[in-house]
Amino acid sequence: MRRIIIQGSSRSKGNTCKIVKILREGVRCDLLDLNLHTINHYNYEHKNKHDDFLMLMRQIVEYDLIIFITPVYWYSMSGLMKAFFDRITDCLKIEKETSRKLRGKYMAAISCGSDDKEIEGFFVPFQKSADYLGMTYVGSIHTWIERSSYPPEIVLNLISEFAANLENKILTSPRETGLL
Ligand SMILES: Cc1cc2nc3c(=O)[nH]c(=O)nc-3n(C[C@H](O)[C@H](O)[C@H](O)COP(=O)(O)O)c2cc1C
Repeated sequence: MRRIIIQGSSRSKGNTCKIVKILREGVRCDLLDLNLHTINHYNYEHKNKHDDFLMLMRQIVEYDLIIFITPVYWYSMSGLMKAFFDRITDCLKIEKETSRKLRGKYMAAISCGSDDKEIEGFFVPFQKSADYLGMTYVGSIHTWIERSSYPPEIVLNLISEFAANLENKILTSPRETGLL
C-alpha cells in the first residue's frame, strides 16, 4: 500500500511538521509539503492550470492512502489546504482521467491546533470530499501542541492508536476483503 501525507501548514518546520514526524515513525509514508509549492486559488477559467497543482495531483493519485494534515487556523483548515481542495475542481473539470484515479482510494485527516478541543464539524469537509470523490474515509484525529513545544503524552498515544486503526480499517474494509 502506497501512503502519502499532505501537509498544509504555512510553516514547513512548525507544529504540524512535529506531528508528521511522529506519525511517520509508525506509518511508512511519503510526504508532500504544500508550503513548498505554488498552489493558486481556484479560477473558473482554469487560469492557474500551469502552477504546481496538476503536476502534484498526477503524483498523488498514484497513492492508495492520502492523509491530510492541517493546522487549525481560525477554527478551520489552513488556507493552503483549502486552496488545494478547491483546486480539485480543476482536476475534475479539465483532467478527468487524473481525478478518476482517486476512486477507491483511502483518505484520512489530522488537525493540529493549540487547543486540545476538536472543533465541531472540523473534519466534515474531508469526509464529504472523500465521499464525493469516491474515496473511503478511514478516520481522523485532532492533535495539539501548546506554546510551540512538544506534543503531550496524550497526543503521542492518540497518534499511535490512529496509526494502528488506519491499517486495521483498511485491511477490514469491504474493498479489501472483496465484499465490495
Ligand atoms: C492564523 C492562525 C490561526 C489560528 N487559529 C487557531 C484556532 O482557531 N484554534 C486553535 O486551536 N489554534 C489556532 N491557531 C494555533 C495553531 O493552530 C497551532 O499553533 C498549530 O499547532 C500551528 O501549527 P503550525 O506551526 O504547523 O502552523 C492559529 C494559528 C494561526 C497562525
